[in-house]
Amino acid sequence: MALLIFSALLLLSLVVPGQQFELSFSTVMDNDGNVVLKWGFNQYDEQITFQLQMNSQGWVGFGLSPNGGMKGADIVIGGVHPNKTTYFSDYHGIGNTAPVRDTLQNYQLLLLTENGTSTTMRFSRAFRTCDSNDMNITAGTIRVIAAYGADDTIAYHRENHFTQSINLLRELPVAGLSSPKDSVSYNITMNNYTVPAQPTTYGCAFVPLPNVNGKHHIYKIEPLIQAGNELLVHHILLYACPNNTNISIAPGECYNTNPLFFQCLQVINVWAVGGKAFQFPDNVGLSIGSPDDPSYARLEIHYNNPEAKNFTDSSGVQLYYTKDLRPYNAGILEIGSALSFLFIPPSARSFRLYGLCNTQKFPEVNGQQVADMQVFAYQLHTHLAGRAVRVAHYRNGSQIGFLGRDMTYDFNFQEVKYLENITTIKMGDALQVECTYNTMDRRGITEMGLGTMNEMCMAFLFYYPKNNVSHCLSSPSATDIMNALHVSNPKDVNSVEWDENKINLLQQTIQEGKQDINITNSQIHLFMPGSFVTDTGYLYNITEGANATCNNATFSSLAATSAPNSSMTPAMNEPNLNNNGSGSLRGSVILINLALFLFQAALGASLRPPNRSP
Ligand SMILES: *[C@@H]1O[C@H](CO)[C@@H](O)[C@H](O)[C@H]1NC(C)=O
Ligand SMILES: *[C@@H]1O[C@H](CO)[C@@H](O)[C@H](O)[C@H]1NC(C)=O
Ligand SMILES: *[C@@H]1O[C@H](CO)[C@@H](O)[C@H](O)[C@H]1NC(C)=O
Ligand SMILES: *[C@@H]1O[C@H](CO)[C@@H](O)[C@H](O)[C@H]1NC(C)=O
Ligand SMILES: *[C@@H]1O[C@H](CO)[C@@H](O)[C@H](O)[C@H]1NC(C)=O
Ligand SMILES: *[C@@H]1O[C@H](CO)[C@@H](O)[C@H](O)[C@H]1NC(C)=O
Ligand SMILES: *[C@@H]1O[C@H](CO)[C@@H](O)[C@H](O)[C@H]1NC(C)=O
Ligand SMILES: *[C@@H]1O[C@H](CO)[C@@H](O)[C@H](O)[C@H]1NC(C)=O
Ligand SMILES: *[C@@H]1O[C@H](CO)[C@@H](O)[C@H](O)[C@H]1NC(C)=O
Ligand SMILES: *[C@@H]1O[C@H](CO)[C@@H](O)[C@H](O)[C@H]1NC(C)=O
Ligand SMILES: *[C@@H]1O[C@H](CO)[C@@H](O)[C@H](O)[C@H]1NC(C)=O
Ligand SMILES: *[C@@H]1O[C@H](CO)[C@@H](O)[C@H](O)[C@H]1NC(C)=O
Repeated sequence: MALLIFSALLLLSLVVPGQQFELSFSTVMDNDGNVVLKWGFNQYDEQITFQLQMNSQGWVGFGLSPNGGMKGADIVIGGVHPNKTTYFSDYHGIGNTAPVRDTLQNYQLLLLTENGTSTTMRFSRAFRTCDSNDMNITAGTIRVIAAYGADDTIAYHRENHFTQSINLLRELPVAGLSSPKDSVSYNITMNNYTVPAQPTTYGCAFVPLPNVNGKHHIYKIEPLIQAGNELLVHHILLYACPNNTNISIAPGECYNTNPLFFQCLQVINVWAVGGKAFQFPDNVGLSIGSPDDPSYARLEIHYNNPEAKNFTDSSGVQLYYTKDLRPYNAGILEIGSALSFLFIPPSARSFRLYGLCNTQKFPEVNGQQVADMQVFAYQLHTHLAGRAVRVAHYRNGSQIGFLGRDMTYDFNFQEVKYLENITTIKMGDALQVECTYNTMDRRGITEMGLGTMNEMCMAFLFYYPKNNVSHCLSSPSATDIMNALHVSNPKDVNSVEWDENKINLLQQTIQEGKQDINITNSQIHLFMPGSFVTDTGYLYNITEGANATCNNATFSSLAATSAPNSSMTPAMNEPNLNNNGSGSLRGSVILINLALFLFQAALGASLRPPNRSP
């Protein structure tokens, strides 16, 4: 039998290597820069390649996890023995116990090397395998886990495990992302702002934008978080003021002191926890320096300070601008649910709120014709209870696609995402944001509002060419909600006894009732005539496209291959054994898998789980 297996291995090692792609993306998963994950993918073949490098000479492990923990995680573990032979297998986590080797091995090893300091493991797989023990790789947030061991015995210990939320299937803009030669940077920050000792503070400061001679384009915006305040700075927004604004009021709390803080509502940058710098594609930038352009901005920082500490902060953003003009001016449209009388009941596993936007009245709000809006990026935003957000797009009453979607939304990982294709919004189209919340851990209702424990349901659409519509928000009728719950005073919703029927009743009322829509022009000062126009509408149904079929390809796992001359061990590759695989190869592979399975089973007793944080 051993002879048979080895001859089969020899045969298989002659087979052409599997898919490898340029590893265009990378992330560092630890604080010291020693855990580096790189990856690349092919959207059309639905194949992804990962490369994990760690400072370890023991086993290295990689996984995808529903929540960052071991349970339900889809794991691969590999390494190089001291005698230079390699091992590699597809496992799944069943809890805080040994991961179990999958019967179907859906990961293909491409490279496994080790030198004096680190181990590098490269492997690929299909986005969707047909193994219920693997997780599907889909667009949206995915929790990636990694771990390593001190030696090749896969043993339990608390150290050396890492988890990170990542958007794996991320897109790069078609127009490219290059930095202009002529580039100037400019910082907009708080200046030792005294943050009050309270859980939620929205700090605001009016700041001049770069004083430039003639039109320039801002092409990149980077967060500047004061060292030490990383856990307190929850989001940073930058709003452009109307072009004729000249404000001189001292920094303060945004929304409960001076009503002047309510002005300047055109979002030009949105950063939230987990996000990084945002760069505009090469054909578009934020215009400054023209007569129509803003000369002031409002910097708004949401401080989340649950322990009510006293601290000062000088966080903000760094702008990069150029006189090397791009063809288009960028605009950012904020859509979603208005912060009105609306709430999520407690103990709801999956409650949905909506924001509807009809673009029909955009020309009226804009004061002139509105060109088709070419959307190239988006950012979604909810607070802690948010679990999924999607933005559906309708034309002539029918859904034509999505303008943003994350069905595994993670509050701690909010970033601007480029769309795969530029998507056109034509005047008359409708946009509908849907946010799904889980409030199983809450006893009282969760109201819409600014605090971290309140909720929001927003999407920011990055588009060109710019128009003056800044917001298009909606809310259901408060009267409909109160009638459905049989309360006569808005305050009484706090004493409603919630059960499944009441939750469903409220859900149905929100879904079927009329929405009041409010569309705002950012160039006209708030409270001045023409600054907003209202509309009404009814929510649409949202449909998902059919799921892609899964890929049945399996690969052999590696227990011990014969030692090569160097520590570079090219992976043994196997053909795709989809229905066209040859009978004899298939037979050999089954034998190998059986042998390896027995080998692993024998080894099983010594296999203990690598620990992952929950
Ligand atoms: C290499 O070492 C591993 C682990 O000790 C062992 O299982 C394997 O049989 C060895 N292989 C060879 C070719 O010596
Ligand atoms: C080992 O490989 C890593 C990754 O290629 C490299 O950064 C490191 O310098 C290498 N170390 C040695 C001792 O060669
Ligand atoms: C902006 O802030 C960054 C980071 O603190 C700093 O390196 C840079 O020098 C600042 N730029 C200006 C123009 O002050
Ligand atoms: C904030 O105050 C500290 C201590 O007084 C000072 O060192 C620092 O330069 C100030 N930061 C800014 C941005 O003014
Ligand atoms: C502001 O922009 C408008 C056009 O949007 C223009 O008519 C007006 O002159 C500008 N105001 C200033 C102070 O530049
Ligand atoms: C914060 O500062 C205020 C005013 O200086 C003081 O009254 C309060 O006790 C401080 N709170 C904490 C938690 O240090
Ligand atoms: C993007 O465009 C390509 C080429 O037209 C198409 O195949 C693909 O399905 C589009 N993607 C989306 C998400 O619409
Ligand atoms: C519409 O939005 C504006 C700006 O936020 C606000 O002042 C106004 O009260 C809203 N109007 C309605 C009818 O909701
Ligand atoms: C939306 O879906 C519901 C339930 O499937 C259906 O009863 C209703 O007719 C649909 N509405 C529209 C506008 O398609
Ligand atoms: C697609 O698959 C997911 C689970 O992966 C399932 O929840 C969803 O209903 C499926 N969608 C369709 C249209 O079948
Ligand atoms: C992965 O996607 C395939 C194809 O859509 C589906 O059949 C399968 O159930 C999904 N697997 C999981 C674990 O959701
Ligand atoms: C994958 O293989 C299983 C078992 O052989 C089979 O039932 C299933 O139909 C296959 N799926 C596809 C998409 O080929």
